[in-house]
Amino acid sequence: SWPTTASRGMFFVFEGLDRSGKSTQSKLLAKHLETVGPVKWMCFPNRETATGMLIDLYLRKKIDLPDEAIHLLFSANRWEASRMIVDELGRGTHVVCDRYAFSGVAYSAAKGLDFEWCRAPDVGLPTPDGVFYLHVTPSEGAKRSAFGDERYENTAMQTRVREEFKRPALKERVAWRDVDGSREVGVIHDEIKATVDAIRLAEQENGHRPIARLWV
Ligand code: TMP
Ligand code: MG
Repeated sequence: SWPTTASRGMFFVFEGLDRSGKSTQSKLLAKHLETVGPVKWMCFPNRETATGMLIDLYLRKKIDLPDEAIHLLFSANRWEASRMIVDELGRGTHVVCDRYAFSGVAYSAAKGLDFEWCRAPDVGLPTPDGVFYLHVTPSEGAKRSAFGDERYENTAMQTRVREEFKRPALKERVAWRDVDGSREVGVIHDEIKATVDAIRLAEQENGHRPIARLWV
């Protein structure tokens, strides 16, 4: 595990398909946590960094890359931020993140890459204290606004990704929670807020566990 102080921030991740409500819910949780202390909201891919610029070009279909190469870039994009995440948590800042390694594995495995091969480069990243997987039924998804025209934003791909997100190996030693994302924004937020507050209280009472490494 990573070295940390006795009191640290908590690390929460939002996962799900495109248009599942991750951005909305992660920003609402960040706002809620700001009432108790400093918060850092982040998202992956972070398109601003060196690797992120290549990822952005790939997603906007300006460049092509082999599936393996883009997979490793997505992982590198997280490793670029890993030290910062650990430092923020160590300083007592809560970190809320829109997508993480779970998207990395689910999207690449959905393209046919070997699941364990996909997981390997992300092994050892800081583990979240809670992952909220927002799921919407395909029919509810279809009611939402149309897909954009980035890579992966099509029904066939999303259907395959949904299946990959069900794999138990993705959730090994991970505090994973399925959240029904087809409900009203406020209802979903209230449920997540209650869970987060319970996790925070338990940590305060039992003493903070060190930040573990993902899938180790
Ligand atoms: P975004 O829509 O959240 O900006 O993510 C861009 C796309 O990249 C989305 O379709 C999911 C996909 N993705 C991966 O394929 N691998 C990854 O590691 C991450 C973080 C996202
Ligand atoms: Mg998207």
